[in-house]
Amino acid sequence: MALARLAPLASLACLACLVLLAGCADEGSPPRVPGGDARQGLRLVTQYQCGACHAIPGVQGAAGRAGPALDTIGRLSYIAGRIPNQPANMQHWLRAPHALKPGTEMPPMGLTEQEARHVAAFLYTLR
Ligand code: HEC
Repeated sequence: MALARLAPLASLACLACLVLLAGCADEGSPPRVPGGDARQGLRLVTQYQCGACHAIPGVQGAAGRAGPALDTIGRLSYIAGRIPNQPANMQHWLRAPHALKPGTEMPPMGLTEQEARHVAAFLYTLR
């Protein structure tokens, strides 16, 4: 009889598992950048020649080695090893790296706010 009483508990536990799994799946998808268009971002990354310093998959000639390869930047927890990798931080980083990490060798690239949104959207496709 004890088993019969446990059954509802077990199904509750199952439900909890499913909810957790769903949560994980969600976390696994790339962060959305409101107003950001990844295709524009790809064009801008080419135009601004980020590839002079970074290896970037899908960007022709982007094989620079002065900066880290960006092939998994979309799923890294931190930008530049210490800044939580969230869309707002990424946009800020792209426009003013020194503001977030004084002394960094990444130069400010002169992106507008809107351009930074597009570039961030593109970077989050790299996983
Ligand atoms: C002159 C070389 C140079 C150029 C040009 C450059 N970067 Fe960087 N970038 C760096 C360096 C060096 C770092 C490492 C900074 C640090 O960790 O302090 C970096 C770091 C980054 C990071 C964080 C990477 C990580 O693994 O944490 C991103 C994202 C990034 N750059 C994107 C870009 C984009 C997009 C462009 C073009 C708009 C660009 N960079 C242009 C040198 C450059």
